[in-house]
Amino acid sequence: MAKVYRNIVILTGAGISAESGLATFRSADGLWNNHRVEDVATIEAFERNPDYVHDFYNQMRPELMAAKPNPAHLAITKLQNNYCSKINIITQNIDTLHEKANNQNVWHIHGQINQIVCLNCGHVYETWSDVSSEDKCPQCQIAGMLKPNIVFFGENLLYMDKVDELLPKCDLFISVGTSGVVYPAAGFVQIAKFSGADTVELNMEQTSNNYLFDRHILGPAGSTLPQLVDELLA
Ligand code: APR
Repeated sequence: MAKVYRNIVILTGAGISAESGLATFRSADGLWNNHRVEDVATIEAFERNPDYVHDFYNQMRPELMAAKPNPAHLAITKLQNNYCSKINIITQNIDTLHEKANNQNVWHIHGQINQIVCLNCGHVYETWSDVSSEDKCPQCQIAGMLKPNIVFFGENLLYMDKVDELLPKCDLFISVGTSGVVYPAAGFVQIAKFSGADTVELNMEQTSNNYLFDRHILGPAGSTLPQLVDELLA
């Protein structure tokens, strides 16, 4: 890739965190094979049984708090530190591995496991502790209105204003570790492509929107992303 890029967008999914030991959603033993999405990841489930949903994320927090970034996350920092281009990361992941790897310009469009939002006053705060439906909001002091700041199916994504700004301008779109089945994130590559970007997909296998990518690099992101970064920096 001798070409010099000016605006790189990296879309990441659960696959970039797999080598940090975190479960993906749709693999054989994935999160959605052991839980019903309808019970823990929809706004109806939360309204129906908030503490069941809180417990699902309460159990997830310690593992995500302990998880360490892997060479894929670290490769992004190397690119951001050495490549003269705007590099933004749009992540579907709720873990904080991009931040732990010191990646910059990270946009969590599906929210974050260590953030809580108050449905009464909109206050968002960070915690790695358990949250229940009895807890009070630290800002408005109302109890029973706290929700993990995670985007449930049926809710709007976060930072879409930023996404709408970045995609039309990007000249290189790199998708890492996402199955490309959940919209609107799965449609981002199409916007980038139609805006003239080169598109690259890093995954263990061909994905459902693979026809939209100019290039496919098969293999674990912990190996393929560092190689791609070295190619870009050459
Ligand atoms: N390196 C690269 N890719 C990998 C690796 C790896 N080490 N391990 C797994 N993958 C790939 C899988 O082949 C799969 O295509 O990562 C992808 C993970 O796909 P999903 O489990 O569907 O996760 P994701 O695409 O992030 O899901 C998107 O769906 O449930 C919602 O909100 C949730 O953000 C999530 C969204």
